[in-house]
Amino acid sequence: GKYRVVSTKPMPGTRWINLLIEQDCRLEICTQKKTILSVEDIISLIGDKCDGVIGQLTEDWGEKLFSALSRAGGKAFSNMAVGYNNVDVNAANKYGVAVGNTPGVLTETTAELAASLSLSAARRIVEADEFMRAGLYDGWLPHLFVGNLLKGQTVGVIGAGRIGSAYARMMVEGFKMNLIYYDLYQSTRLEKFVTAYGQFLKANGEQPVTWKRASTMDEVLREADVISLHPVLDKTTYHLVNKERLAMMKKEAILINCSRGPVIDEVALVEHLKANPMFRVGLDVFEDEPYMKPGLGEMKNAIVVPHIASASKWTREGMATLAALNVLGKIKGYPIWSDPNRVEPFLNENAPPPA
Ligand code: GLV
Ligand code: GLV
Repeated sequence: GKYRVVSTKPMPGTRWINLLIEQDCRLEICTQKKTILSVEDIISLIGDKCDGVIGQLTEDWGEKLFSALSRAGGKAFSNMAVGYNNVDVNAANKYGVAVGNTPGVLTETTAELAASLSLSAARRIVEADEFMRAGLYDGWLPHLFVGNLLKGQTVGVIGAGRIGSAYARMMVEGFKMNLIYYDLYQSTRLEKFVTAYGQFLKANGEQPVTWKRASTMDEVLREADVISLHPVLDKTTYHLVNKERLAMMKKEAILINCSRGPVIDEVALVEHLKANPMFRVGLDVFEDEPYMKPGLGEMKNAIVVPHIASASKWTREGMATLAALNVLGKIKGYPIWSDPNRVEPFLNENAPPPA
């Protein structure tokens, strides 16, 4: 192979490997046991000559790594993730390294996990499973693990981009929930979907579903019964859900986060969970991943899973393939799926193109 490409982790499937090898690349896959590689580990992987790197969201892609990659002759970096808050895009630009991400292939998989957490929280599935395994079940009772019916309740979506919209559609269509959403951009496609489904229900003699685009995020927090967070993490969304905003939510609300941990002030969340036993959360991401803030792991009203929202076989193979294509496209001088020069700066697919 003429080009040296490094992947900081083994990734699912073989398609991404074959693609690179068939196109003149010598691929090196780091098999170090350590889960999270340090900047120094990656600098030594990059070495003296490296044309492109496929990296992971746990890695700190900043000034040091992009300068090392640029010194090694590298032109391309792809995160194997849609989120890229671990990447300093300005530093990449400064060193002439194109940055890619892997949107699209994880939309439904991630939305499905958010939906799973919503249902699990509403029906107390994890608590009930623990109860069963602990041998505590001694007969059916009218009060045992009573949760809430989603039908007719309101689902709130904060960030109605691809993932947020897919989740909204699942909850509206699957469970006949009304929708309230907040996004800087209007999602007419989503609105039309809910309107059409509402008409369908009405024509069948059922209560129609409704939608509302909130003018503030607080409106969603006050009105929704289940709220799922789907913004990108940046300075404007850090601790978006803080103590004050938690206090605005219904006492029996369900909060889901499959975006990035720091979107929620996790210390405030633990306090809120303690003070409001009927309030429930489903979390896929954490503020100090892989750690949880003290107390969170003991809360019965919290469901916690280890950042697995995109973890379906189809999606992970797709992400690996897209990441390889991003790097390959730049090295070979042709974009394949998307322009690898530009990670996507918008929350919403209806957003205007960048100036
Ligand atoms: C996963 O968290 C991703 O951003 O793809
Ligand atoms: C962005 O993260 C999206 O796919 O919604």
